[in-house]
Amino acid sequence: MNLLGPFEALTAEPFETSWRSPSNIAFVKYWGKKGHQLPANPSLSMTLKNCFTETRLSFSVGTSHPGVELFLNGLRQEKFAAKIEAYLRSLESLSWLAKVHVRIDTHNTFPHGTGIASSASGLSAFALGLTDYLFHLSGVKVDFFRTASYLSRLASGSASRSVYGGFVSWGDESDFYASSIPVHPELAHLRDSVLVVSGDEKTVSSTAGHGRMSEHPYASARFAQARTNYHRTRAALTAGDLSEVGAVLESEALSLHAMMLTAPSAFTLLKPKTLAAIDMIWAFRRETQLPLYFTLDAGPNLHLIYPESSQHKIRTFISHELAPLAESVIDDECGEGPVKC
Ligand code: PMV
Repeated sequence: MNLLGPFEALTAEPFETSWRSPSNIAFVKYWGKKGHQLPANPSLSMTLKNCFTETRLSFSVGTSHPGVELFLNGLRQEKFAAKIEAYLRSLESLSWLAKVHVRIDTHNTFPHGTGIASSASGLSAFALGLTDYLFHLSGVKVDFFRTASYLSRLASGSASRSVYGGFVSWGDESDFYASSIPVHPELAHLRDSVLVVSGDEKTVSSTAGHGRMSEHPYASARFAQARTNYHRTRAALTAGDLSEVGAVLESEALSLHAMMLTAPSAFTLLKPKTLAAIDMIWAFRRETQLPLYFTLDAGPNLHLIYPESSQHKIRTFISHELAPLAESVIDDECGEGPVKC
């Protein structure tokens, strides 16, 4: 499927736009690819609210080199600029973009290395700005967010889910773009407190981790499990069944990290404090029956998921018992998706 057909023969003009796009946390994980940037299984995520990237794009016409300049917090970043330039060149059907110079001014509301995906927020913010440019030049009026999701996916799979608010799936309706999914009103305001147990740089990148699934002995069992977990989570989100959502959430986090531990070239991103916190969360749930669940991204930091209705007691537990294990705690919640700003 190619959603870029209407944008193939455009004439470049100057344009400026600015987008704020949030990060997301996967409840059902994308871990393993097929083809070019297509997921081996469906995934499902909650879009965050406070953790976002704000990006201003200034397009001008000219063949100057480099074609992309990127400033993060006002400082020039040549490595990120080169990645965006390579991404733009990979959009071969939009070859006219070679005549366009892009200046990117960007910042995140959350620190790097905290287990909050800046690739999801940053690359979706960029893709939204690029989509805005394509729609402006072409006069196309429909499927703006679908196109932005398609362009985000080509940069980073998880970014495809950040262009919508609430809960979002990718790899069910389509492998090529993500879609918004319904949620019971009681689960529409879930909280996510991120327990940052280590801000160290990851030893194995997500790209390398996806690659290790291609020869993983448990790959097909994992993809089948993820499909089952996806359908269980969707049904539980619709029914408002938080204990079912939580059970699958934790199983998904542990399966993701089990894949790393059992990969042909094994590795782990977990830290002793991650496991200590998991033990404490399980004990807290047994003792209080309160609905506190965890998930993990490809890193050691825990996302603590709980409902607004139990927020007071759970935040007391987090700040008294879990926070001493951590470098910091970042409070976030389910958000409404990107905005043009
Ligand atoms: O989008 P990528 O290539 O950075 O991969 C993301 C992988 C996970 O964050 C571990 C899972 C997910 O679905 O977001």
